[in-house]
Amino acid sequence: MCVHRFFYREGRTVYLFRLYALAVLSFFALACNEFFGGRDSGGNDNTSSGFSARDGHTAAVFKDGTRDALWVIGGGLENGDVWKSTDGITWTQATSAAGFSGRAHHAGAVFDGALWVIGGYDGYNRLNDVWKSTDGITWTQVNAGSRFSARYRHTATVFKDGTRDALWVIGGWDGSNWTEVTDNAGFAARDGHTAAVFDDGSGNALWVIGGDDFSSAFNDVWKSTDGKNWTEVTDNAGFSKRYAHTATVFNDGTRDALWVIGGYGGSDSLNPKSLSDVWKSADGKNWTEVTGAGFTARYYHTATVFDGALWVAGGWDSSKYLNEVWKYP
Ligand SMILES: *[C@@H]1O[C@H](CO)[C@@H](O)[C@H](O)[C@H]1NC(C)=O
Ligand SMILES: *[C@@H]1O[C@H](CO)[C@@H](O)[C@H](O)[C@H]1NC(C)=O
Ligand SMILES: *[C@@H]1O[C@H](CO)[C@@H](O)[C@H](O)[C@H]1NC(C)=O
Ligand SMILES: *[C@@H]1O[C@H](CO)[C@@H](O)[C@H](O)[C@H]1NC(C)=O
Repeated sequence: MCVHRFFYREGRTVYLFRLYALAVLSFFALACNEFFGGRDSGGNDNTSSGFSARDGHTAAVFKDGTRDALWVIGGGLENGDVWKSTDGITWTQATSAAGFSGRAHHAGAVFDGALWVIGGYDGYNRLNDVWKSTDGITWTQVNAGSRFSARYRHTATVFKDGTRDALWVIGGWDGSNWTEVTDNAGFAARDGHTAAVFDDGSGNALWVIGGDDFSSAFNDVWKSTDGKNWTEVTDNAGFSKRYAHTATVFNDGTRDALWVIGGYGGSDSLNPKSLSDVWKSADGKNWTEVTGAGFTARYYHTATVFDGALWVAGGWDSSKYLNEVWKYP
């Protein structure tokens, strides 16, 4: 499993590789609810406005004309649609068939003024194509086949490489083997992990949390300021082992913290299950459970900070796709 960097510069895509070691995952649904102590307004049915229930989608905050919107891209049974909302309640389909092939478990990011879609699974094949769009409607293929192997359940995160930003693709499942390239990468190869950029007080770093290597799940936390040299912050965070969770940087009024939500795993490794718990930490080491989230257990959902709130969208609950959107506060 590898960490690949690539830079987009002066109209040319330059792939630079070096590093190494990891992997990813994600998920979705519809109905705006209060997150904590909130009411589940209805569940998983296709009610009013939105997109069909799904998981393995991506979500991002990106401009819609002159204002920010919350965007939902692909997922489910290899959807190729793109949805947007400026209030999280009313959803508009930006396109029913984006230029990229329908897919789930791809990675997404906002980078270089565009929405990006990277790799994923189209129902038959793992992918390593790269697409971007400045309006969510018209998609341009940046690369038909990147140098990293075709994969899904990886992550894509914008983080500095030296003095400029780069898009970092970490881990994932490439179907052949888990290969941990040993060059300085500390953690075990994995997918279904999360990647986030977070400042624990000592400066921005790239953080990798949890995941799974197909024999067991993890609850370890790693960080790196350069993507090469990884430090294990804890090998046993307060939350149980899991993958397909989310990790999002959110400030609930106290300070920026990493928030871990849901996923699949739990304390009984022989009986893993879908999870509904919520945890936060300001240092990645000391985790506090935040109780009272009203939603049911889910994984492969998304969690995105938008309009001052933390938004959880969709997912899979072990039996069905979800079609809900929750927010906190
Ligand atoms: C929701 O249901 C309506 C009515 O059955 C249907 O027309 C629409 O396509 C559905 N929307 C989605 C996103 O599945
Ligand atoms: C998988 O990777 C391990 C470690 O690099 C290697 O020993 C093994 O032969 C590989 N298996 C396959 C099927 O490629
Ligand atoms: C890796 O990072 C750790 C923690 O910041 C530091 O102590 C160590 O010197 C670094 N190692 C290398 C090879 O840069
Ligand atoms: C962990 O964090 C909680 C909540 O911020 C705090 O009350 C507690 O003192 C911290 N524990 C340690 C060991 O730092």
